[in-house]
Amino acid sequence: MMNIDIIAGTRPNFIKIAPIIDAIVFYKEKGELINFRLIHTGQHYDKNMSDSFFLQLGIPAPDVNLGAGGGTQAEQTAAIMIGYERLLNEKENPNICLVVGDVTSTMACALVAKKANIKVVHVEAGIRSGDWTMPEEINRIVTDSITDYFFTTSETANLHLLNQGIKKDKIYFVGNTMIDTLVKFKSSFLQPEFWNTLKLTTSNYLLLTIHRPANVDDKDKMRDYLDAIILNSTIPIIFPVHPRTAKVIESIGIKNERLFLTTPLSYLEFNFLTQHAKAVLTDSGGITEETTVMGVPCITLRDNTERPETVEIGTNELIGTDPKSIKPALEKLFANEWKKGQIPELWDGKTAKRIVNHLIDIMSA
Ligand code: UD1
Repeated sequence: MMNIDIIAGTRPNFIKIAPIIDAIVFYKEKGELINFRLIHTGQHYDKNMSDSFFLQLGIPAPDVNLGAGGGTQAEQTAAIMIGYERLLNEKENPNICLVVGDVTSTMACALVAKKANIKVVHVEAGIRSGDWTMPEEINRIVTDSITDYFFTTSETANLHLLNQGIKKDKIYFVGNTMIDTLVKFKSSFLQPEFWNTLKLTTSNYLLLTIHRPANVDDKDKMRDYLDAIILNSTIPIIFPVHPRTAKVIESIGIKNERLFLTTPLSYLEFNFLTQHAKAVLTDSGGITEETTVMGVPCITLRDNTERPETVEIGTNELIGTDPKSIKPALEKLFANEWKKGQIPELWDGKTAKRIVNHLIDIMSA
């Protein structure tokens, strides 16, 4: 029997594990000896950062919640590691610990599992920004240094792993599970309630998300960003605010009739807004993948990306972190000169089945 611990802690994790669970259930019903236990680390804990994702994406209730949310990076890492280690000591160990993405929960559980001699499977392995100031880059490198089986979203990720000395037969280029979820739920996207009150129409508003410490922890920079976006856009700007960003926004106290702030949105509402936006401005990585697949222009407020295919193949452009670069980007957008993209290889909605298929082969070898 293959017993898999599936680890999830944050919003993007929930989106990535949903199709993997579906695929496990699919193969189990076909008679494969495969089982899973869902471990929520508790890194994201607010209703709209966590519960709404479980509900909308049909993810089963976690078997265990480690309740390790809040605190500094080190406090969070420690709380997750202690919680997961205790759990492993209490019950029979799984054969596999499957982690996704690059968040604190990913790295913390991979470390605990590896030390308990459990095989570590990393979904979305091998992506690199080269930017060591991002906690996610450290999480990626640490996780990949102790991973046994690597599932990747691109050939570039494969190359990074090969250059790191990973053997070719441990690397599986399978595509993108975040896109599996997008493909599955595209026909169910939900128009948010404020769509009508704000009189929004397709391609007639901008969607803004910004949450990275480098962008939001500096009050002046945050104010300059918002000023530049408001000044250079004649259409409404919808801004769902992450809890971390909310504190800064409150202290800036910015108000404008074109700027609409809201709490973090559910998956189906957020992606409805992405699908219909004139463009998305963001410092997220995952959103650049979703805009690429939906063919929506994406303006990324970062100097680098671990997802170069969204720039080379998709609709994404990196404009850096100087608020001055917002003006030319919006001018290009409003002149309708933004590039049209294509969908990267294997981002086809079938990635999770490929992963589980490979795991069955690996474990029966
Ligand atoms: C984390 C990930 C980031 C990912 C993002 C997605 C790490 C290092 N970063 O960043 O890669 O893009 O999730 O959203 O793992 N908070 C709440 N309620 C919540 C969740 C968080 O109030 O439900 C607060 C936390 O207590 C903390 C702050 O928001 O003060 C930041 O949360 P944290 O989980 O540390 O990192 P994110 O910025 O969410």
